[in-house]
Amino acid sequence: MSRYREIGITGANGTVGRVLMEGLREDYSVRAITRRAVDMPSTVVAFDDIEALTGAFEGVEALIHLGANPSPDASWKSIVENNIDATHNTFEAGRLAGVKRMIFASTNHTMHGHTIRTTPETLDPDKKVRLELPDAPNPDSFYAVSKLLGENLGRLYFEKHGIEFVGMRIGWLIQENDPSTKVGTSAEDYMRAMWLSHRDCVEAHRCAIEAEVGFTNAYVISRNDRRVFDLDETERVLGYRPQDNSEAWFR
Ligand SMILES: NC(=O)c1ccc[n+]([C@@H]2O[C@H](COP(=O)([O-])OP(=O)(O)OC[C@H]3O[C@@H](n4cnc5c(N)ncnc54)[C@H](O)[C@@H]3O)[C@@H](O)[C@H]2O)c1
Repeated sequence: MSRYREIGITGANGTVGRVLMEGLREDYSVRAITRRAVDMPSTVVAFDDIEALTGAFEGVEALIHLGANPSPDASWKSIVENNIDATHNTFEAGRLAGVKRMIFASTNHTMHGHTIRTTPETLDPDKKVRLELPDAPNPDSFYAVSKLLGENLGRLYFEKHGIEFVGMRIGWLIQENDPSTKVGTSAEDYMRAMWLSHRDCVEAHRCAIEAEVGFTNAYVISRNDRRVFDLDETERVLGYRPQDNSEAWFR
């Protein structure tokens, strides 16, 4: 028996959303919620309209909020509209609609101030770190700042309204699922550390739906040998046990 059966996914037509729509639909009733008509059945709604959003979330028990501008290079203007205002509206409408758990697409970039060299894609070889979940965030971009705001909205709505929250600090999931597409590029190190396979992504979100938890963040990466995120606490809190390892693609 699942903890929650009625799942809503915002941004369901994006890269992560398509993986989750496909991977979760066997065990859950999954509803796509998008800002435009897309090539899948979807509830279309304006994310700047809290009343309309509340209607769109009616009956949703656990809401996976993916809808956002996912670029670390995004301008402040775009971040405010798509990642801050739209996220606030999603939380508020979720509360009004009676959503019980928010599962929020945060990002590895909330921590990358600790690790990067010149760009968000280049790990600093002099900074051999293994970051633990309670370590202080160190955002590398306006994008990362917006995701920390989302995590903090999650804390506020949990403390004030009792809405459960899991903040998913997702690593790097790509449509083709093959991390070796970055071989020889400046992004190779970063990919080897941060890769998230499609099946581990589905499993992490299944754990985020099912775990007995009030508020937590989580590192959502595969079991990469070169990971810079420590997975122990995430495994303990969510029961997430990733199976894939990016190194298998580089031999
Ligand atoms: N792909 C990754 O590796 C990765 C890593 C870390 C975090 N994330 C996060 O996961 C989520 C999904 O990422 P993705 O790679 O699938 O991106 P994507 O660009 O493929 O999909 C994003 C979706 O969000 C929607 N969207 C954008 N602005 C919106 C708004 N204002 N209101 C409602 N919907 C809006 C888009 O229409 C699209 O459907 C994002 O929040 C992103 O920040 C992704």
